[in-house]
Amino acid sequence: MTRTHNRQEQAIEDAAGRILAAQHAIALTGAGLSAESGIPTYRGPDGEWTKFGEPTIDGWELFCENPAEWWKLASEGVENPTAFTRALEVAEPNAGHYAMAELEGLHQLAHVITQNIDDLHRRAGSAAVTEIHGNRNLVRCMNCGQREPLAQVRLERLPPLCLDCGGTLKIDVVMFGEPIPQDALYSCYRVTSQTDLFLVIGTSAVVSPAADFPVLAKQRGAALIEVNPHETALTELADIVIRAPAGEALPEIVARLQAAARA
Ligand code: APR
Repeated sequence: MTRTHNRQEQAIEDAAGRILAAQHAIALTGAGLSAESGIPTYRGPDGEWTKFGEPTIDGWELFCENPAEWWKLASEGVENPTAFTRALEVAEPNAGHYAMAELEGLHQLAHVITQNIDDLHRRAGSAAVTEIHGNRNLVRCMNCGQREPLAQVRLERLPPLCLDCGGTLKIDVVMFGEPIPQDALYSCYRVTSQTDLFLVIGTSAVVSPAADFPVLAKQRGAALIEVNPHETALTELADIVIRAPAGEALPEIVARLQAAARA
């Protein structure tokens, strides 16, 4: 076995030990966790934005100025999906998502903060999830904050209105420049204030406020474990670094915890 492989085995062993000993382990996940589900990442060596540059991001301004026009363009976009939205449509949870749901089932993972909008954590069975950038399958009322399945929204009249309060509905996905919904932000600060172990999985950790939570936890004395094939902005803060794809490393960690639970 190569030295790298040994080092990785040791990191996985150490990570499993830390998770077993933790009182309140939580995780922050990013696009890298869904890469093995066929959804391209934004940054990193294979990222869409790395390869093709960042798109112009003015959705939030347009929505604020003219929500009906925004919904009209969004509906047209559904008819002409990009490669990215097609990948989102057909994506299934991968071994990494299922491993995280298993960690929750083993009571070894208290909460997941995800930056992903793909709904794959919930489809894999995770329940304690905060989708800080929203969920592509939901709409959110801009007045009362109520969320509903997008599939149930009637689009004969634009913009669609909230059945509870009459407020304007928007896709739940948080657009650049849009404030993070208060309920999601509160949930992230709450679980971050309680954690003693923060798993940072598949994220370049460059977008705030999501990337700030592991740093806040570290400052309070929590340990950090990074699972990422590449270095990130948080690598130097990490107590354990697993340089591997999440779909490979997380099931190996779960296997060790399941063996410990049987022992
Ligand atoms: N397993 C784990 N990590 C992986 C894998 C994998 N199989 N493949 C790639 N990665 C890592 C990359 O090395 C990179 O560090 O996933 C990370 C993806 O980083 P980004 O593309 O920047 O995605 P993310 O961190 O989620 O971006 C945060 O930025 O574009 C906005 O709102 C968008 O939620 C997104 C936010």
